[in-house]
Order: sequence, then C-alpha cells, then structure tokens
Amino acid sequence: MAEQKAEYISQLNMFQEILAEKPLSELSPDFENGNHQTDQDEPKPSPNGKRGNDLDGASWIKYSISIWSDIKKTAEEIALKHPAMFPAALPERLMQCFTTSQDQYILDPFAGIGSTILAAKKLGKIGIGIELSQEYAAKANARLNPQSLFSELEEITLTSVVHRDDSNNLLKYVQPESIDFGVTSPPYWDILNQKRSADYKEIRTYSGDKELDLGNIADYEKFIEALRPIFTNVFIALKPGKYFCVNVMDIRKKDRLYSYHEEIKNLMCSIGFKYDDLIIWDRRAEYNNMRPLGYPSVFRINRAHEFILIFLKPAHHC
Ligand SMILES: C[S@@+](CC[C@H](N)C(=O)[O-])C[C@H]1O[C@@H](n2cnc3c(N)ncnc32)[C@H](O)[C@@H]1O
Repeated sequence: MAEQKAEYISQLNMFQEILAEKPLSELSPDFENGNHQTDQDEPKPSPNGKRGNDLDGASWIKYSISIWSDIKKTAEEIALKHPAMFPAALPERLMQCFTTSQDQYILDPFAGIGSTILAAKKLGKIGIGIELSQEYAAKANARLNPQSLFSELEEITLTSVVHRDDSNNLLKYVQPESIDFGVTSPPYWDILNQKRSADYKEIRTYSGDKELDLGNIADYEKFIEALRPIFTNVFIALKPGKYFCVNVMDIRKKDRLYSYHEEIKNLMCSIGFKYDDLIIWDRRAEYNNMRPLGYPSVFRINRAHEFILIFLKPAHHC
C-alpha cells in the first residue's frame, strides 16, 4: 500500500515536471482558450492504489490528447492489402492506455488480418480473434506464427490465434467474463460493395460469404441490428470493469450521411456498456485522395478521420 502510494506521488511529480517544462498551451493549442474540462472530469485515484495502465507520465499525457495524428500503416501493412484494416500500432496504443501487464486476454471479434491480435502478442498478452474470411484468418495466423507450418491452427488454444468463424459463435472460443480488453473495427456496412465516388478505389468485399458477412447486408437498420448479437457476446465475454474500443468511420451514401459512430454508441449502450469516451483518429497524413468533392454545386467533406469509441462494462450491474 505504502509502495503504491509512493509510486502514485512520484507519477504526480513527474506530471508537474512535464507541465513546468512545457506550458499547457503547447500541449494542446486550445487548452488556454477553450478547454471545457472541469475538475469533475478527473476520476479520483483508486482507493487501493490500483493502476489503470503501466504508462510513464510523459506517455500518459501525450496519449490523453483526444486527437491521435501519429498512427499510420507501415509499408508491410500496406502490402497486405486488406480493404479496411487498421495498423497494429492503433490497438497497441489502446492496450497501453487501458490495460496493465496483469491484463492478459484481448479480444477482436472482427479480426481481419489480425492487427489487434498481433499487437496483443507483441505486448506479451494472449489475443483471441474471430474472422469470417478464410483468407484473412489464414493471413492473420501466418503473421502471428511466421515459422509455423500449420494451416489449421484451431488446436492451438494457449496462444494468440485468429479462429475462422462467424462472430455469432464467439462464445465457443472464450469463456464469459474472461476477457480483459478488446478492440475491433466492424465492417463498414456494405460500403466496399459500392462504387467509390470519393476515391475511385476498386470494389472489394471482405469474405465473399454472402450470408454471414455483415458487409453484405444492404439494409442499414438490418446491418446495425446484425451487430447486436455479436456485441452482446463481447459484453458477456468481457470482465466487469474492463474496456472495449470500437473503431469506425461515418459513411456517406449519395445525399445521406450515416452517423455510424453514433449508431454504434446507441447500440452498445442498449446492450449494457457505458459510453466512456471518444478519440479522433486523424488520418490526414495517409489521405491521398484529396479532391474538391461535390464541386461546384455542393460542398462535400473529405473525411480524413475515424472515431475510436471507448466503452466500459460497468463493474456492478444495477
Ligand atoms: C473492418 S474489417 C476488420 C479489419 C481488422 N481490424 C484488421 O486490422 O485487419 C472487418 C472484418 O470483419 C469480417 N467479418 C464480416 N462479417 C463477419 C462475421 N459475421 N464474423 C466474423 N467476421 C466477420 C470481415 O471479413 C472483415 O475482415
């Protein structure tokens, strides 16, 4: 207890040193002019001195800024050609923020080519992914086990793995209340099947599985509802008091903007999650299709950011 208290005080001192060296206005341009945080935003330190992560003071401050602009795909990741992957650096940073070394089990129910699971493995954790596409699941497992000759990795249970399956079957692979943290990026509705007017990229689908691939559901309401049983599984699998992050982008189809991030927020809260916070993932550095969309008749937005929604499974149910 005394040790934990000393560590907490040493962290506080470190923050004060950082702030003394750098005025707050430099950490965030709006800090002095329009910061709407109040003291009530500050959670009280845990009475038992329990830490929320293992970050040092400088990283804690850096990562707490609500816009992340420094996370990009590596050349290796670009070469993998998944149509909607995120860089492993994104789940890695989220794990650094929301887990400690004690938190072992990480879940991604739409694992793609395994970015979350790879990041978990890199941090010494055990990642469990589910992915419908045979091709992507195989790619993910090859990334996880570059030396392995196995093509069927289903038998490997005590190590990071991506299971090829429909996420509706997630509870076949994980026990209720066994997961310490999760990150996922669900399909972007059926947007990959659409003609891409913003960037003229070729039309691609995820798994090609017409029935089970959520990316093939054309009706928006049905698509959102199809996510419900999967995120309910996630809720069941997560330990109480733990976090789960969802990365999405809003979607425009012709003259309608679909606020996908808001839809996810509403869905998750209706399942029982608490909406805890939001990070803007600024992707301007990777956005290479800047065009005068809609010119000259309608002003359209070049969407170069995504949302990372942060959810908490409450520690106690009411
Ligand atoms: C946005 S991608 C996720 C990419 C992943 N974050 C990565 O970095 O590789 C969504 C994934 O969900 C998968 N998917 C679609 N329907 C699914 C289902 N019912 N069960 C499991 N995976 C599904 C797709 O094949 C696709 O790879």
